[in-house]
Amino acid sequence: MSAIKMDGKALSAKIRNQILAETEELKASGIVPGLAVILVGDDQASQIYVRNKEKACTECGFYSEKHILPATATQDELLELIDILNKNPKISGILCQLPLPEQISEDAVIAAIDPKKDVDAFNTSNVGKIMTGDYDFLPCTPAGVMELLKEYNINAEGKQCVVVGRSNIVGKPMAMLLLHENGTVTICHSKTNNLTEICKSADILVAAIGKANFITADMVKEGAVVIDVGMNRNEEGKVCGDVSNDVMEKASYMTPVPGGVGPMTITMLMKNTIKAAKLQNSIK
Ligand code: GUN
Repeated sequence: MSAIKMDGKALSAKIRNQILAETEELKASGIVPGLAVILVGDDQASQIYVRNKEKACTECGFYSEKHILPATATQDELLELIDILNKNPKISGILCQLPLPEQISEDAVIAAIDPKKDVDAFNTSNVGKIMTGDYDFLPCTPAGVMELLKEYNINAEGKQCVVVGRSNIVGKPMAMLLLHENGTVTICHSKTNNLTEICKSADILVAAIGKANFITADMVKEGAVVIDVGMNRNEEGKVCGDVSNDVMEKASYMTPVPGGVGPMTITMLMKNTIKAAKLQNSIK
């Protein structure tokens, strides 16, 4: 058996078209969704992510601004920029690309972004709302995964869902969204005993570890749905996920890397930006 590839690129294109149509409607009433992306330093991967986010803004008809600060920027300089963007009515959403240079506290930066403009949903008030299920914004990567599951009619209800990775950005909110869909959720991490056994129990396995080809075929149940959130480079410098290619032969559905979760993450950022524009203009 070879898994059905879950095409995040195609689904993204479809959703971005819907967002573009919605943007045109908003524009007719004088509202233009606007996203500000901040990049501090010259991390190569971050540069590519930021470029893709700008491209997506253009595709969705948004106004966008890119702010590039040198790697030597101080925390105060960054907080000052965030303050200006918080007050700018043209800006519906603010995204500060992580990671940040070590002289800057990520927590301080996340806390400084107005929760109504926090399109990453990283601010503690938005994180808290995700816990209760009464949220404005969903974090982009887990939201993208849920959209992919929906598109392929994969229902988490009653299923064993195993999330490998406990980051604030992906693992923890991913577990919460699967729980909201009535999945039975286990979160695994670097200190987990019997990792292979737990992964093998998964009907839906989400790999968000950040290690190339970490999940191998012996860790996967025949017919499992495997979601690969990883974006790594192997020894030859080629982009690869957290899941080894041989898992394709065991899974029923699997997301490719690239072209699976990655494009969905950016599309969910666009969805959050249009939501932010509506919220700030009291539109449901
Ligand atoms: N770096 C890696 N992923 C993300 C993300 O989703 N948002 C931000 N702001 N930075 C990131």
